[in-house]
Amino acid sequence: MSYQYSTFGRFLGRGSGIGELMDDLGHALADGGPDLKMLGGGQPARIPAIDAVWRERMTQLLDEPGGLDRALTTYDPPRGNAKFLTAIARLHREAFGWDIGPENVAVTAGGQSAFFFLLNLLAGRMDDDSRRQILLPLVPEYIGYADQGVEGALFRPVQPQIERLGPHSFKYHVDFDRIELADEIAAICVSRPTNPTGNVLTDAEITHLAELARAKAIPLIIDNAYGLPFPGISFGEATPYWDPNVILTLSLSKLGLPGTRTGIVIGPPEIIRALGSINAIAGLSNPSLGQQIVLPLIESGDLLRLSRDVVRPYYHDRSELARQAAEEAFGDSSGPWMMHLTEGALFLWLWFPDLPITSAELYQRLKARGVLVIPGHYFFFGLENSPDWRHGHECIRVSYAMEPAVVRDGLAIIADELRKLRFG
Ligand SMILES: Cc1ncc(COP(=O)(O)O)c(C=O)c1O
Repeated sequence: MSYQYSTFGRFLGRGSGIGELMDDLGHALADGGPDLKMLGGGQPARIPAIDAVWRERMTQLLDEPGGLDRALTTYDPPRGNAKFLTAIARLHREAFGWDIGPENVAVTAGGQSAFFFLLNLLAGRMDDDSRRQILLPLVPEYIGYADQGVEGALFRPVQPQIERLGPHSFKYHVDFDRIELADEIAAICVSRPTNPTGNVLTDAEITHLAELARAKAIPLIIDNAYGLPFPGISFGEATPYWDPNVILTLSLSKLGLPGTRTGIVIGPPEIIRALGSINAIAGLSNPSLGQQIVLPLIESGDLLRLSRDVVRPYYHDRSELARQAAEEAFGDSSGPWMMHLTEGALFLWLWFPDLPITSAELYQRLKARGVLVIPGHYFFFGLENSPDWRHGHECIRVSYAMEPAVVRDGLAIIADELRKLRFG
């Protein structure tokens, strides 16, 4: 039998390019032997000291009044557990001085759901049949947004400026000259730190974007899945930003709790009420275990301490090891290569100028050698077919959350493949 699908069903129910890639990665992982180097996923690392905290909390929850029993047997209100919302607002008030209360906070089933709701809440088809879009002021940007529009493409991507910092080092910047906030732009959206590049938009860039958004009376959405105050995978001096026109999203996933599916949104009360409404319609209530696990850690300040003293240094060390491994692997013998400044998140972003094949073909060759990465063009959604800009097809994303030896060996194979490609 073949059923007819709605527009929603057609766009969301019939797979996507990235869905196929994920499937391919999953099969390669399942079929690959013990030597397979999985550098493709967004899986956070298992940090022993952090895992131990979750185990301790699970034990405490068994005995805590209102603990595990409550988490398993009760529907929370659609916007989230009231104590959790209050604790999140207090944490940010005290850490950064932001003037927010629980009315500014909503929980969703992971950051991914937060984006599905937010992007479709603001953009897409409007009541008057016009269409509105989300401006991505700097692509490459998080692949997970790409297919979220319930009626198809939602984005207006903007090509970045490339600053060369050294023979093998570069950083993307927002090219403000290319930004045009036409009337059909519904919001500006950035991840900071950025997946896939590890870029952290500078304070000046964020302030400028916030000014542009405010002047146009549209929200600025900042995806803080990796940043401060938790999980804290942000290595530089960049300051967290919020103003009453900003929608900031957070998640417990990169702290090490992706299985609890806990996303958090801080934003204008009007947006927060709308998210509560969508939560109720789409899912009644949210998973509450993650909220229960971290609640006392937020109230005591321990979550900030763990993020600052354990999670951040852990990833910082890993990023340094990965950077050194890349320098050793590529050296001067594999042709031109560039690495984005690693300022946060879990990834190295590698650019191979004048790569003789596309990054999708490179992906296939590396897969055949047991190394899984993500080809770069996926992160340039909306620009991937731009005829005058090959850049996206010259980049790959490599996760460094795996064991350092796996990352090092994987990078050595990537470098070897490049040498073969370029010099035979
Ligand atoms: C930038 C960014 N935003 C949002 C998400 C969604 O994460 P989750 O749904 O696990 O909170 C991810 C996951 O990798 C991400 O990298």
